[in-house]
Amino acid sequence: MTTGDQQTFAPVERLEGSITVPGDKSISHRALFIGAIAPGISTISNLLIAHDTMSTAHCLRLLGTDIEIKGTDAVVTGKGIFGFREPSGVLDAGNSGTTARIILGLLSTQDFFSVLTGDDSLRTRPMKRIAIPLTAMGSVIDGRDHANYLPFSVRGRRLKGIDYTMPAASAQVKTGLMLASLGAKGTMIIREPVPTRDHTERMLAASGIDVKVSDSAVVLACSQKPLPLTMAVPGDFSSAAFFIGAGIIARTADILITNVGINPGRTGFIDILKQMGGSVELLNTRFEAGEPVADIRVRPAQLRGTVIEDRSLIVRAIDELPLVAVLAAFARGTTTIKNAEELRVKESDRIKTVVDGLLRLGIRAREFRDGMSIEGGVVRGGTVSSFGDHRIAMAFAAASVSAAQEISIDNFSAVNISFPGFLPQFTSLRQA
Ligand code: S3P
Repeated sequence: MTTGDQQTFAPVERLEGSITVPGDKSISHRALFIGAIAPGISTISNLLIAHDTMSTAHCLRLLGTDIEIKGTDAVVTGKGIFGFREPSGVLDAGNSGTTARIILGLLSTQDFFSVLTGDDSLRTRPMKRIAIPLTAMGSVIDGRDHANYLPFSVRGRRLKGIDYTMPAASAQVKTGLMLASLGAKGTMIIREPVPTRDHTERMLAASGIDVKVSDSAVVLACSQKPLPLTMAVPGDFSSAAFFIGAGIIARTADILITNVGINPGRTGFIDILKQMGGSVELLNTRFEAGEPVADIRVRPAQLRGTVIEDRSLIVRAIDELPLVAVLAAFARGTTTIKNAEELRVKESDRIKTVVDGLLRLGIRAREFRDGMSIEGGVVRGGTVSSFGDHRIAMAFAAASVSAAQEISIDNFSAVNISFPGFLPQFTSLRQA
């Protein structure tokens, strides 16, 4: 049931059906960016059409890139990295941290002036992590709080490659720097504290770029020219995760989610489920566009509490941790998540927003600086807020399947950021 922007979900006896989730958000952003800098025509199918990826398309169009989208197919006509034009207006990355961090890398290579902003949430998210290395490469960036918060002004330059150790693990920053290197001189070395998702490495390699990857560093000769891409974007594991989570805690369930990307940099959630006594079946495992893909079969399990603290596991499950916290409410015992301070600087402060929701549903949960603990119990039902955060909205929707009573979620339309078709797909599973 919908009232205004509130969505109410009743508990259900069973979840059943076969569904396909939309294209991967991270890969869709990258496909648009790489298409824009590769001279020629890139053809992308199964592109995610959602607010975040449309923020990337919107910014690239303002920079002069021709992007035609029909359904989920996109044709991007790239003019080369130096083919962009000075935008006459302000670039708006909306809610999308990925758009902002990656585009700052590209803007830094341009011999023109640009201004980048974002919505209320994005303007509170830290940008120093990308501004510092880009400035070291030669870009001239300014913004609020000494270039930490948008809006930013950028005056690009002919950059030079640097040897940079990222203090925080971030695939967005890594990608912004990798793309910036394509318009720079010298050699670029990016060192990561723990490995992050490697979609950019795979996609640049597929477009003819020589990228050397080891466990802790990415090395690129600067000024390489990517070739146009022809690719099908795999389904988004982070969207599939909500149905996996709902199926695991359901009273009874049998769900098949087809064509889901299972890049190891993204599937920490499966490892966490195993740690908690749940499992999924990966069927028909194959490679598409350089990425591992599978169909995922989900059936219920009684979960048990666990401790999640390994930093590489945290990074491999970063977008799924709010969902893990929600599932922990249905587990026997206590679940503790540590070393996850990055959750505080996502689309919402996800430690605060998920704990707030769990408390409202009658679950004992506690925040700490870098994580939270959740005691499994009876999820009563009640009203929670998404706080404008797509993943918080969908995590609590998943909880509704086995709650004692209805769960209402305020500001539910936040799901449009990454998964506009979430509601009809979830409803189809619930009508078993
Ligand atoms: C993303 C990287 C992660 C992730 C985000 C998407 C990407 O962010 O949380 O949803 O596409 O590179 P960080 O780079 O900030 O860790």
